[in-house]
Amino acid sequence: MPGGFRPLLERRYVLRMTEILAATEAGIARAALLLRAGVLVAFGTETVYGLGADATNERAAAEVFAAKDRPRFNPLIAHYPETDAAFADVLPTPAARELAARFWPGPLTMVLPRRPASRVALLAAAGLETLAVRVPAPPIARALLSAFGRPVAAPSANRSGRVSPTTAQHVLDELNGRIAAVLDGGPCAVGVESTVLDLTREPPALLRPGGATVEEIRAVIGSLSDGHAQAVQNDAPRSPGLLVAHYAPSLPVRLGAETVGPDDALLAFGRQLPGAGAVFNLSPGRDLTEAAARLFSGLRLLDADGTARGLAGIAVMPIPLTGLGRAINDRLRRAARANPADGSVVS
Ligand code: TXA
Ligand code: MG
Repeated sequence: MPGGFRPLLERRYVLRMTEILAATEAGIARAALLLRAGVLVAFGTETVYGLGADATNERAAAEVFAAKDRPRFNPLIAHYPETDAAFADVLPTPAARELAARFWPGPLTMVLPRRPASRVALLAAAGLETLAVRVPAPPIARALLSAFGRPVAAPSANRSGRVSPTTAQHVLDELNGRIAAVLDGGPCAVGVESTVLDLTREPPALLRPGGATVEEIRAVIGSLSDGHAQAVQNDAPRSPGLLVAHYAPSLPVRLGAETVGPDDALLAFGRQLPGAGAVFNLSPGRDLTEAAARLFSGLRLLDADGTARGLAGIAVMPIPLTGLGRAINDRLRRAARANPADGSVVS
């Protein structure tokens, strides 16, 4: 922004709004600095604008879901400046290497097994053993990713249930005041989301059609099953993230616990119930963003600890159904359904 006089009132107002960063060296450096500080920065890719967060920071990932008003913790795509950086967080199959050589940088996202050493936050990948990775094409996006030096988790930069933004102005229309900044890379060249391929299956499955066409992909890897068409046929939810089996604890899960005993591993929220055999408190201060950030690690810790100590199950205290609480409750209901405490089979 050129220097010069701006009335004080306006300047105060501007401080509370989302910063618009120009695609200059200074703008990119500022965007990287904000990401490092754990706040959200939208940036243009060739497909749509992404709502970027430090993928290694659970709290920043939680802020993404809060800013989007997402009712569920869908797994996010991790973005990298180049193929080697992406493959440092996942285990590439031979087909994945061929696809990377052909399509990256470009509008293709690959779901691959996550490396145990991956630094990507559990919440960013919705607790899954797989991780979706992609290398976007625009030089500005790649410059940001290089400058930042860590994976960037980025869903499309729209509020939940709205269309994906393809200009910086669209992002502001959706998220002004909810995110720290938007790096203006101009309009997106492709304008539809990336193609999502699941390479953990044989043959690989198309989870979402997008910028890289099925014909182009088949030309590289031969056969490709249509996970997207199967989902539509089975009337499954349209989001591919819902097709995969999300992490479920091995211990039975009981929701809405009002009392607990020595046989219970307690997932607490707020002031914790007395008498449990093990406790993990999501947020003693009842902060839903903190609770979201700690949800997957808490479930895993209690599952491991409770199993080691021979406890009967995980008891979860009630969590309010407001803001991020909706996504937290959605996730917990899935965990309870996968392994109900009363042993019943729920379809
Ligand atoms: O073009 C794009 O892909 C844009 C730009 C910003 O990169 N991003 C985007 O993100 O569209 P999002 O969150 O709106 O969509 C990502 C899709 C979701 O449908 C999600 O379920 C799926 O990818 N996905 C992510 N990780 C997955 C995983 N581990 N397994 C299966 N599906 C996954
Ligand atoms: Mg989206």
